[in-house]
Amino acid sequence: MCGIFGCILKNGDASPIIHAALKRLEYRGYDSVGEATIHENKLFIKKDQGKIDDVHIQHDLDDLPGRVGVGHTRWATHGAPSQTNAHPHVDCAGQIAVVHNGIIENFGELRRELEELGHVFRSKTDSEVIPHLIEEKLKDGLTMLEAVREAVSRLEGSYAIAVISVKEPDKVFCARRDSPLVVGVAENATYCASDIPAFLPLTNRAVIIENGELVVLNDNGYEIRKVTDSTPVSRKPEIISWAPNMAEKQGYPHFMLKEIHEQPLCLRNTLRLQDPYLELMTTFLDRAGEVFLVACGTSYHACLAASYMFSKLAFLATHPIIASEFIEQHGRAVNIDSTILVVSQSGETADTLAAIEHARLRAATIMGLTNVIGSTLTRIARVYVCQQSGPEIGVAATKTFTSQLCVLAQLALRLAKKRGKVSHVEIEHLEEKLEQIPEVAEKIIQSQEEKIKQLAKKYKDAQCFFFLGRGVSSATAFEGRLKLLEIAYVPSLAYPAGESKHGPISLVEKGLPVIFICPKDDTHKTVIGNIMEMKARGASIIVITEEGDEEIKSLADDYIEIVKGVPEVLSPILYAIPLQLFAYYMAIERGLDPDMPRNLAKSVTVM
Ligand code: AGP
Repeated sequence: MCGIFGCILKNGDASPIIHAALKRLEYRGYDSVGEATIHENKLFIKKDQGKIDDVHIQHDLDDLPGRVGVGHTRWATHGAPSQTNAHPHVDCAGQIAVVHNGIIENFGELRRELEELGHVFRSKTDSEVIPHLIEEKLKDGLTMLEAVREAVSRLEGSYAIAVISVKEPDKVFCARRDSPLVVGVAENATYCASDIPAFLPLTNRAVIIENGELVVLNDNGYEIRKVTDSTPVSRKPEIISWAPNMAEKQGYPHFMLKEIHEQPLCLRNTLRLQDPYLELMTTFLDRAGEVFLVACGTSYHACLAASYMFSKLAFLATHPIIASEFIEQHGRAVNIDSTILVVSQSGETADTLAAIEHARLRAATIMGLTNVIGSTLTRIARVYVCQQSGPEIGVAATKTFTSQLCVLAQLALRLAKKRGKVSHVEIEHLEEKLEQIPEVAEKIIQSQEEKIKQLAKKYKDAQCFFFLGRGVSSATAFEGRLKLLEIAYVPSLAYPAGESKHGPISLVEKGLPVIFICPKDDTHKTVIGNIMEMKARGASIIVITEEGDEEIKSLADDYIEIVKGVPEVLSPILYAIPLQLFAYYMAIERGLDPDMPRNLAKSVTVM
């Protein structure tokens, strides 16, 4: 789950463009970086271990000559982060440079075969087999296009690659299978990248490259061909509605804080989604024999919350499943009567795509909820909704989580209406409350941010946290926990509050901070009991609760208040926001970079 980029310019040097584009792709991986350009038939390469800014200080990534080039920012899968394992990788003669995102499953066998032919490998990566394979094909007198095509036909696994060579110095060759690849078309340049934000400030005209396609960027633009038989494919660019500065921080210190503050706007957009797709999805849910809600990480927490919404509003039982366990847990049971609602902000998460590919082969109905137009999920799903949150750059999902919940709540409400399980009065009340969510989100951020900052200062040295909630708030608790451990590296546990006394409570000792998510709903009484259990063992009680809920506040050491009257089923959308801010300020207090947490990357495109 690296970031690749390539470009051919009419004029000027490519390296400053590549450097800036890699910065916009850094959320995809940041343990090493590299660039290669061609000038006067010579290959120029700079690469090293570390974050882009650090490597730039060392090597000046803007100072490579030539108008044609490629670049890479890495998330290591094969071979530890090092200068040697950093991309681009080259062939024996140093005439072909390749950047790769994905995993070559048969690289061991290919490497042995190439070593027997005399090729010398420099790195421990799977990706290095690609330039050597191309080199071998060129020896047979093939053109670069044919050599790249034949080379990728030998690869098993996932790849998106960009290749340059002194053999044909005014071209960039790219190809994809399973890893994302898009082409950006501008007046005086053509770009290829793992993700649209890479070239968004340069052009909003993008061509989505499909699986099994190869693209050549040249001075006339781009040409697409099928990898299987090289037949030409014609495809016009789509206009991307994202504003160029959406991929920038706009004055915020970090993308994560910017994206938390963008939630009111995103939620407004999510309330204006296209009706026909929501209606079609509602019909499929209504007719479904069984419904699986499949996702990973934060998106899975949205599915967990949705399972309460669908049950409480539409009397529909659904199965929220962690995607990487779907095939093992339900693979045999899935059939033509199964409906899979897949949630993935990137639309590219490998575990999620593998789960739906399995279900698709068993004739299940696939529906998708994603944030990225043109993502692989949108190509597999029978119907999908794009949640309109705009690009999310911070590795920790924030605005995409609350937008996912907002879409899922709309689906549950539509299904409730269709099934007539809930009174019109209640439906109208919930619809009214849903319409107010963006303003309420605004109020929470404005009124509570400073308080949350102080809370992070108070608890910055805590060694462990508990997150507890009942009912739909247990999903909010899981999400709060994930945010804190992924960006502030604080070991944390989350449980449905009723479960804590079946084991986890043994960890509770004086001063252990326990965060309770407790909106005023049917679980209010029992949550008070759970708070008392923790208090009795000396825990420090922090509550996210409804404004003026004196009963709960009187039991707490610290509290964050949420505006009165938020309906239970909608509460995760709003109660998650203080937890996002808390995790952010804890990371800041602990001197960490919230945008680029260690060992993580934004889109997990490997299994
Ligand atoms: C959340 O902050 C993480 N970035 C991660 O858990 C993420 O939610 C997960 O990888 C799923 O990503 P997706 O929504 O793009 O499929």
